[in-house]
Amino acid sequence: MVNLLIVYHSQGGNTQKMAEAVAAGAKEISGVQVRVLPAMETGPEDLTACDGLLIGSPEYFGYMAGALKDLFDRTYESLRGQPRIFRKPYAVFISAGNDGSGCLLHIERICSGFQFKKVQPPVIAKGPITEAVLEQCRELGQTLAAGCEAGIF
Ligand SMILES: Cc1cc2nc3c(=O)[nH]c(=O)nc-3n(C[C@H](O)[C@H](O)[C@H](O)COP(=O)(O)O)c2cc1C
Repeated sequence: MVNLLIVYHSQGGNTQKMAEAVAAGAKEISGVQVRVLPAMETGPEDLTACDGLLIGSPEYFGYMAGALKDLFDRTYESLRGQPRIFRKPYAVFISAGNDGSGCLLHIERICSGFQFKKVQPPVIAKGPITEAVLEQCRELGQTLAAGCEAGIF
C-alpha cells in the first residue's frame, strides 16, 4: 500500500476545501492510503512515513502560513539527509486572495532544502474557491496518487 500525506493549514477554510478535494481525487486511486493532516498536528514521523506529499497553504503577507513554516522549522534538522526524505515526490496547492507567488516561491525553496522532488505544477486559487479550482485539486490528488502507486516518480 502506497501512503500519500496531504498536509495543510487553513484559517478561513479555503485551503481546507482544496485539501479535501485533493484527498477525494487521491482516494479514487486503488492501492493508495490517504492521510490528511493539519500542519500543526504533523511531525517528522509523518513526513518520513509517506511515499508522496501534497502541501497546502494560504498565502499570508506574501508568504506561506506560519503553521506550515513551523512544521518545516520543527522537522528540518532531524530529517535532512535521511534516505526516506530524499527525492520524495511532492506538489503544492495554494489559496490566495489575488497572488500566491510569494507563498509558492518560499515553499519550493524550503522543499529544495529538504531535497523533496517536485513532480507536478502547483494549483493556485486566486479569490473564491470555485468548482474549477476544486476539479484541479482533485486532478492533482489523482495524479500524485497514481504516480506514486505506479512508482513513476
Ligand atoms: C493575514 C492575511 C494575510 C493575507 N495576505 C495575502 C497576500 O499576501 N496575498 C494574497 O494574495 N492574499 C492574501 N490574503 C488572502 C488569503 O490568502 C486568502 O483569503 C486565502 O483564501 C485564505 O486561505 P484560508 O481560508 O485557507 O485561510 C491574506 C489573508 C490574511 C487573513
